[in-house]
Amino acid sequence: MKNPFYYGGVVSEENFCNRKEEIKELKRDILNGINILIYAPRRFGKTSLALFTLEELKKEEKINYIFLDLLGISSKEEFINEYFNALAQALETPVEKAVKFFKDILKIKPSVKVIFDNTGKTKFQLEFSKDELSQTLKDVLTIPLKYTEKGKKICVVFDEFQEIELLGIENEMRSQIQLQSNKVPYIFMGSKKSILKRMFLEKKKAFYKSVKHFQIKEISKKDWVEFIQGKFNKTGKEIDVLYIEKILSITKGFPYYTQQFAYELWELTENKVNNEIFNKMVKLVLEREEDMFAVEWDNLTPNQRKVLKIVIEKGGVHLYDEHLLSKYEIKIGSLRKTLLALLEKDILDKIDNRYYFQDPLFEYWLKNRIY
Ligand SMILES: Nc1ncnc2c1ncn2[C@@H]1O[C@H](COP(=O)(O)OP(=O)(O)OP(=O)(O)O)[C@@H](O)[C@H]1O
Ligand SMILES: [Mg+2]
Repeated sequence: MKNPFYYGGVVSEENFCNRKEEIKELKRDILNGINILIYAPRRFGKTSLALFTLEELKKEEKINYIFLDLLGISSKEEFINEYFNALAQALETPVEKAVKFFKDILKIKPSVKVIFDNTGKTKFQLEFSKDELSQTLKDVLTIPLKYTEKGKKICVVFDEFQEIELLGIENEMRSQIQLQSNKVPYIFMGSKKSILKRMFLEKKKAFYKSVKHFQIKEISKKDWVEFIQGKFNKTGKEIDVLYIEKILSITKGFPYYTQQFAYELWELTENKVNNEIFNKMVKLVLEREEDMFAVEWDNLTPNQRKVLKIVIEKGGVHLYDEHLLSKYEIKIGSLRKTLLALLEKDILDKIDNRYYFQDPLFEYWLKNRIY
């Protein structure tokens, strides 16, 4: 029988657990034409949420969407071509019609090439000279607006948006997007909080205060219980709520790890989950992630390691504790500086004066291995 749990890429349909509130809110914002920033830690379910929501809206024939993952795009030319291709694919019109549409829009008339990639899929590309780059970029960025002007609604999603910093097209992008406000909703997503914060909150930066910050929360215990128990039962196996609670106490409801734990637990279970199976599963998952966590730990400075230990000991609050500071031989000034560095490195996050590990399993591993 096939394992009913899945972790790794984007999840949809029966692999998608709840998030009903978020979907409702996101739909409303998109249809209202708002620009949205979705920040959440790595593997938290950002991409799945956005695609799930947009697919529903598309099925309901309310809006079409364009999705571009910026990870791996390393030059302006590449951005132009990948974005252009994503736009062309989303048009869903016959190739000749799409080509004509673009030729009509583009100011400089670069030739639109249609190629077939090695899977046989059509891919659209533009040919332009170095001199034409900046105008072509501008042209491509205005396509969503032109599309809307033809009476078709479209939403643009830029995933891993922090990468845009490296491409140096922030200003151009901002000014084009601004011209489209209320007409084309944009969703910016990413997992590097420190960079995104800088891009969207620093006054001198192009995207300062131009978006709604959309919060995604952990998936609740109730939803996970339904999801996990349902899948066990449907496949003729049993799991007591107690074990789901145990999973969540480690994963904190973090979607990727919760699915990973459930996946491994299902594999090891013949009929019914028990303590022995559960412990075996935790050991197995930790062993699998061990190398990655060990590297992460090795890469930290002695002060960073001390501060992480303090965060664990104090549960993330009231860290300026004289007793601990002297136990770990670290000065107040260093503690402050190190906390900032750990936030900048996206190892810690801070919400309402409390410091969190961004990765709950790294925290759990640390608790169990370092002491
Ligand atoms: N709503 C959900 N229900 C169940 N599992 C989920 C859900 N969202 C995410 N997951 C789990 O988390 C994994 C990662 O999801 P996804 O790729 O959407 O996250 P992400 O935040 O975009 O990650 P990355 O930072 O790597 O881009 C999925 O493979 C799945 O196991
Ligand atoms: Mg993603």
